[in-house]
Amino acid sequence: MENKCFNQEVSPKVYIETMGCQMNKSDTERILGMLSYFGYEETTDPKDADLLMVNTCSIRQLSADKAYSLIGVWGKWKAEEHSKKLLKKPFKNIKIAFCGCVAQQDKEKLLKRFPYVDLVFGTNNVYELPDLIKRINAGERVCATNETPKKFTDGEEEKKYPIKRAKSLNAWIPIMEGCDNFCTYCIVPFTRGRERSRKPSEIIEETQKAIRQGFKEITLLGQNVDSYGKNLDPVKDYDGREVTLANLLRDLNKIDGKFRIRFVTSYPTDISDDLIKAVKECDKVCEFFHIPMQSGNSKVLKEMNRRYDRETYGEIVKKIRNAFEDVAITSDFIAGFPGETEEEFLDTLSAIEEFELDYSNTAAYSPRVKTKAAKWTDKFIDENTKSQRLARLNEKNREASLKSNQKCTGKTFEILVESYEEKDNQIILAGRARNNKIVHFNGEKNCVGQFVNVKITGASTWHLKGELI
Ligand code: SAH
Ligand code: SF4
Ligand code: F3S
Repeated sequence: MENKCFNQEVSPKVYIETMGCQMNKSDTERILGMLSYFGYEETTDPKDADLLMVNTCSIRQLSADKAYSLIGVWGKWKAEEHSKKLLKKPFKNIKIAFCGCVAQQDKEKLLKRFPYVDLVFGTNNVYELPDLIKRINAGERVCATNETPKKFTDGEEEKKYPIKRAKSLNAWIPIMEGCDNFCTYCIVPFTRGRERSRKPSEIIEETQKAIRQGFKEITLLGQNVDSYGKNLDPVKDYDGREVTLANLLRDLNKIDGKFRIRFVTSYPTDISDDLIKAVKECDKVCEFFHIPMQSGNSKVLKEMNRRYDRETYGEIVKKIRNAFEDVAITSDFIAGFPGETEEEFLDTLSAIEEFELDYSNTAAYSPRVKTKAAKWTDKFIDENTKSQRLARLNEKNREASLKSNQKCTGKTFEILVESYEEKDNQIILAGRARNNKIVHFNGEKNCVGQFVNVKITGASTWHLKGELI
């Protein structure tokens, strides 16, 4: 049998630390699935692992630095292990692997910089892992960072290996990967390559399987999930139908069972009228849109190479709000983009208010190699101003989130119960409404995994309180 190929007497153990977005989390589930197929057991204790892996994110310098410092710690362990001082087992041959977006970006440089790293593999090489592991176990140091994406080309590997999904009610289902937009600040087109979509039949099959396994929610993933289908052929891939996210949602909605469907992340101008219509038609699809705006100022948006201005973004938001009663719209913003003036920054604060955004992820601009904006050093905003703007942005976001939550009081939401906590002899349940708001309420442990109706009785900045009805 194939999974004996590593020839180990006891199952080797793998520890993987995942940084970054849901796409990385989804890659980790595929990596763990592949490794378990070849006999690896997952451990949550890095000191117990034979194979240490970090799945990295490169979106900001801070994320990359986090990966470098973790690798530094593991390198020390590896050295100590060789002198048999620290670890639980008497002797192990620890291997260290560096993957994800920083690996795709830095390539061989990582092997040079970190002499104790055995394997560097990029986002396009995930399915070569079995072969790569064999090579490092034979003593080689390997760097595999293809520029051409292999994933989603024929789907064969995806069917062959199991997916080791995280313990959760939600299953991540990647439907497209990569980005053709080249926003001037963003590294993603360089780490994830050009856009490509998976065939509808594969996505439907994977969803059916996840629902059979008991998942209560699926989240369709893509860097620009709403441009799904662009590279697919309607005739060959979809019985002559237009391959769009809207049509895919309609098909997934037909799958039997009680479950929810979500999708992230949407590019504002790729949200079509038909997509809004599909979300409205499909009872399983949640009324929740994550639509990063990035800046509230049209000139900055132009310099960011975003394909919309403030007004266009506002019109899209309005269209969505008019279509639904309890929809939530969330966003991402960058503070201190090169050249951003105080007035332009104020437009970002006013956009959050004007468009009544329910919640936003925020970040200070971080220059990334290869991107256009990183070369505009003469326009860089000093660190102090950037962090002050970020603090003000966060304050505005807190206000917006509280306001949005307060609007929910008195309403009744269907909640998918995700977890419980015991506090002062009471069971406090936590779950999500269809609009993705987190709700806490008293109940029984066995409600976890169930859909229940909850009346909202109170609101704080980051969550709602309610009562089971
Ligand atoms: N595809 C999505 C965003 C994916 S990246 C979109 O187009 O909106 C996730 C978020 O990281 C972005 O929305 C942006 O707000 C942030 N980000 C990306 N590059 C950044 C950089 N160089 N500095 C700071 N934040 C950045
Ligand atoms: Fe990055 Fe822009 Fe692509 Fe989003 S659309 S992943 S921000 S380049
Ligand atoms: Fe980070 Fe790569 Fe995702 S850079 S945000 S892990 S696509």
